[in-house]
Amino acid sequence: MGDCVNNGANTDSARSFLEAYTFRFKAENGHAPLAYVHSFGCQQNVSDGERLMGRLAAVGYEFTKDTDCADLIILNTCAVRENAEDRVFGNLGQLKKLKQHKPDLVIGVCGCMAQQQHVADKIKEAYRHVDLVFGTFAYNELYAMLYEVLNSRKRIFDQSERPLDIDEKFVQLRENKVQAFVPIMYGCNNFCTYCIVPYVRGRERSRSPGSVLNEVKELVSQGYKEITLLGQNVNSYSYGFPELLRSIDAIEGDFRIRFMSSHPKDASRDLIDTILSSKKICKQLHLPVQSGCDRILKAMNRHYTVEQYLDIVNYTREKKPDFSFTTDLIVGFPGETYEEFCMTKDLIRQVRYDNIYSFVYSKRSGTVAAGFEDSISDKQKGLWLRELLLEQRETSSRWLGRFVGRVCRVLVEGEGRTGEGYLTGKNDEGIIVEFKGDISLKGQFAEIKITKAMNWALSGELV
Ligand code: SAM
Ligand code: SF4
Ligand code: F3S
Repeated sequence: MGDCVNNGANTDSARSFLEAYTFRFKAENGHAPLAYVHSFGCQQNVSDGERLMGRLAAVGYEFTKDTDCADLIILNTCAVRENAEDRVFGNLGQLKKLKQHKPDLVIGVCGCMAQQQHVADKIKEAYRHVDLVFGTFAYNELYAMLYEVLNSRKRIFDQSERPLDIDEKFVQLRENKVQAFVPIMYGCNNFCTYCIVPYVRGRERSRSPGSVLNEVKELVSQGYKEITLLGQNVNSYSYGFPELLRSIDAIEGDFRIRFMSSHPKDASRDLIDTILSSKKICKQLHLPVQSGCDRILKAMNRHYTVEQYLDIVNYTREKKPDFSFTTDLIVGFPGETYEEFCMTKDLIRQVRYDNIYSFVYSKRSGTVAAGFEDSISDKQKGLWLRELLLEQRETSSRWLGRFVGRVCRVLVEGEGRTGEGYLTGKNDEGIIVEFKGDISLKGQFAEIKITKAMNWALSGELV
């Protein structure tokens, strides 16, 4: 079995080959070849995974959630922190045995981690049971790559950057029939000094407004109730993000709109006014701040100060005092002192976030911050993270109290954790609400009177 880079076999003939392959497979085995596709990381990656599944379904693959039954395994990976990468290498190690029992099994690794040459090289040498390693620019080549693997049993490696047709008619296989992710842009231009994303996803490319609007209209006509627009920095969408939001808000139908992530440097008053005056956009903004200290923000290359960040928050809360903010925070950026870390805790108290996603800094090779001196131990950073989470718990348990006595519109997601007969969903602010109700409400909006606020969620009763 020889190794080669993807040489881009004609996609039409590769597609015909795969259709014939799945047809023959079904005739011989009584079922179509089964694919197991698992996406790690952010919603963008989940959305890419849905697109890969759509392509596989279009040539006759069916799907399984059990790797033991699979004929094709694709791990769609994340590179944002070291532990995300470690998990994938752990999974790949476990798959070696499976491949020994089932030599025809095809194993692929794709996504952000697989875009990095050093990862591809490591898999090439140390994980020889992996057949296919392709990065975020190669999704459109899926058929050509699978053709090569199945037809000539070659190992394929594709880490090249190339222009992508991002307005193509997406064939997505969405598992969730109520909540849909819609990417509006790809890549990132910001180069925050800690972050690997711009290196593995390339520069920003925006889909045309027409293509996005058509997709949303189609989803709404299919009964989707929640549309989440995706991009690493949605508010630098090239054709104007507030304008896009206003056009989507004008689409007829009973649905709500979310979006993420917004970079504070590009969060304009026009964006806030658009959210506040809209009918369908949730009154919630995920606005990753990363740190509450100006010196650290500068070292992170974030291009805003704490004062400028608070200016957006205050502007919003003056108009809507109960508006919901959520954020991302990094603890233990190289050179951060305990005093500087405490400034992030202060910011949590000032903003009153409904939820935070906090991470211990993870060194990513190739980023600027990887060259910064870092004298604080991981153990110490872990303690700081715990302190931060305690601060958030105290703040949010008080702040969530604002919902008690109010009626919230909740999109019901399924059975709750509280106990039998309980359902769970999220209100327009994105907060988990648990209540007693019949499972037939799943996938619908329900009006819930909030009776109790907990640290991280609300409970209530059906109105
Ligand atoms: N583009 C989004 C933004 O800027 O808000 C977020 C992208 S990133 C996928 C999600 C979060 O991961 C970031 O907001 C940051 O808090 C965190 N993150 C990124 N790189 C990290 C690193 N090297 N170590 C720890 N956390 C990191
Ligand atoms: Fe990473 Fe910064 Fe881009 Fe977000 S904006 S993806 S944190 S470089
Ligand atoms: Fe997302 Fe991870 Fe890539 S967070 S963009 S899947 S590095």
